[in-house]
Amino acid sequence: YAVFFIFVYMKNQNPIGLFDSGIGGTSIWKEVNALMPFENTIYIADSKNAPYGLKSKEEIIALSCKNTEFLLNNNCKIIVVACNTATTNAIKELRAKYDVPFIGIEPAIKPAALHSKTQTIGILATKGTLNSELFHKSVENHPDVKIIEQIGHGLVQLIENGDINSPEMEELLKSYLNPMVEKNIDYLVLGCSHYPYLIPQIQKIIPSHIKIIDSGEAVAKQTQKIIEQNHLLNSSKEKSSQIFYTNSEPEVLETILNHNEKVIYKNF
Ligand code: DGL
Repeated sequence: YAVFFIFVYMKNQNPIGLFDSGIGGTSIWKEVNALMPFENTIYIADSKNAPYGLKSKEEIIALSCKNTEFLLNNNCKIIVVACNTATTNAIKELRAKYDVPFIGIEPAIKPAALHSKTQTIGILATKGTLNSELFHKSVENHPDVKIIEQIGHGLVQLIENGDINSPEMEELLKSYLNPMVEKNIDYLVLGCSHYPYLIPQIQKIIPSHIKIIDSGEAVAKQTQKIIEQNHLLNSSKEKSSQIFYTNSEPEVLETILNHNEKVIYKNF
């Protein structure tokens, strides 16, 4: 018994692993860390291979496996796929291949569709997400609601380059959002974990009655639920460790974390 309890105790201190094609998944990490501040975490930004949104399903699966293996080699007890594109294209394959709980992130179509008064909602996401089978299935669940899909061409690249406030960003956002506003959407779903960083820019373009929703908080709650169900909650109340790895320039990732966390370069 003693050996068993020591084993469980030690395993519970193992980190939550999170990965994304780049820095965007930190929007999910922030929610996870706010909800469970005593959990240790390891975040990896695969910025060298960003964007995932234009890659084939096979490529996205291969990169997701690579990221998962890096996190498992670092003893992660659970993996949060902090990327809509990787979730919608690869989570089934990840769950089949690795014996660890996975949490995914998908566009929050359901709450938007349920609450929309104009019966028209907009979704901004990558090509890879909007073309995925998983996304098509969630759209089919809401036949009465008009769903305006828009690929966010170029947005992830600009965010990865640190150009969130550039005139180019503003131009792109206007060209994607104004047609949705004209079609009378009352909800805008952000279907990419990079996009919450664009909310201030988006709010300057769309009228204030349009609600913007993303999946960050829901993912954090689901992560907590699965951790509890698997008896993996870290009972230690010591200061937790938050580790960030990138395989590209650490600068942009450090900036998006407000220089509160150290970022380590690693060629994974
Ligand atoms: N953060 C990823 C997502 O949620 C971005 C995908 C990409 O790299 O294109 O979809």
